[in-house]
Amino acid sequence: MTAPARLAAAALAALCAAPAAFAQSGPIKVGLMLPYTGTYAALGNMIENGFKLYVQEQGGKLGGREIEYFKVDDESDPSKATDNVNKLIKRDQVDVLVGTVHSGVALGMAKAAKENNTLLIVPNAGADAITGPMCGPNIVRSSFSNWQPGYSTGVVAAQKGYKRAMTITWNYAAGAETVKGFTEAFEKGGGKVIKDLNLPFPNVEFQALLTEIAAQKPDVVFAFFAGGGAVKFVKDYDAAGLRKTIPLFGSGFLTDGTLEAQGAAAQGLQTTLHYADSLDTPRNNAFRKSFALTYKQNADVYAVQGYDAAQILGAGLAAVKGDLSKRDALTAAMRKVTVDSPRGKFTLSKAGNPVQDMYLREAKGVNNEFRSVAVKGLADPARGCRL
Ligand code: BEZ
Repeated sequence: MTAPARLAAAALAALCAAPAAFAQSGPIKVGLMLPYTGTYAALGNMIENGFKLYVQEQGGKLGGREIEYFKVDDESDPSKATDNVNKLIKRDQVDVLVGTVHSGVALGMAKAAKENNTLLIVPNAGADAITGPMCGPNIVRSSFSNWQPGYSTGVVAAQKGYKRAMTITWNYAAGAETVKGFTEAFEKGGGKVIKDLNLPFPNVEFQALLTEIAAQKPDVVFAFFAGGGAVKFVKDYDAAGLRKTIPLFGSGFLTDGTLEAQGAAAQGLQTTLHYADSLDTPRNNAFRKSFALTYKQNADVYAVQGYDAAQILGAGLAAVKGDLSKRDALTAAMRKVTVDSPRGKFTLSKAGNPVQDMYLREAKGVNNEFRSVAVKGLADPARGCRL
């Protein structure tokens, strides 16, 4: 090769390498797919705020790289999940997906993430399958599996000596799987679920079902509702006069982020969850203070899960110094992190789901106050995950 030809070849090689080098030094593209409208809108906003708070606390960078956000409102509508997630994967070409709240939508996201080998961090949706049969190296969760809070509430209800329970929820994956977890623990503890009631998501016409509860007179009712639907259910349960006669238990979503709107109707309600507002640890106190200062609003479990999603991503990016081409090292570091969460430290299971303490809480004023550890270090069984 002549000297000018060698020069031209070198220039061409440098030109080709430029986009790759730029790709490892420009911003990391984070695709937030969350509900910003509908019954779960507040949950989506809290997750986004929690995620951004952690990034802001790190000086706006993770693994030495700026973060650029892309957003899609998934409307908690599973029928739009594939189109919505493809806006982020194909149109915006994000490096990592963060979403979502609704289990049905998250199942669509997980399928697309697997097919496109896109990194996915689930900051709420508990669909058991995501860290069960659909588990994969590119998928982790910063929240819970639906089985976990159902199971821990069943443990507590059985310990309290209740024998006959009725359950009530929305008829979709989150409701059905949470009730399944509750039933498993409650019946193992000597109780019996005498009837499961449900209605379509996000329907809030509870009256006929409350009449049925009144007629059957179980010892206890277990409910899974969240967001706007939880506000309405707790108020209707109280207005129907049931709260005085039939204790209402729930996974903590029943009263998380909702207490202001539920007012007197929620006072004293006991639930279990992997977070309690009043956890008196330096980590939780600092987080709540920082969140309140930044957003003029109290943090809730959804904010914690968003914050921890950013912590998990941050751990992966730090391990590879922001170099996304080192994918195996990145995902390995994300999965073996010990997250210093406001909820308490937790690790991820082999399937990528938090192994965490579940707390018994009681609603007092606008806080879900810590009462005791209901189940220590609860790991989802990850049925069907082959990793
Ligand atoms: C879910 O669909 O997985 C879900 C939604 C709100 C709160 C908890 C779980």
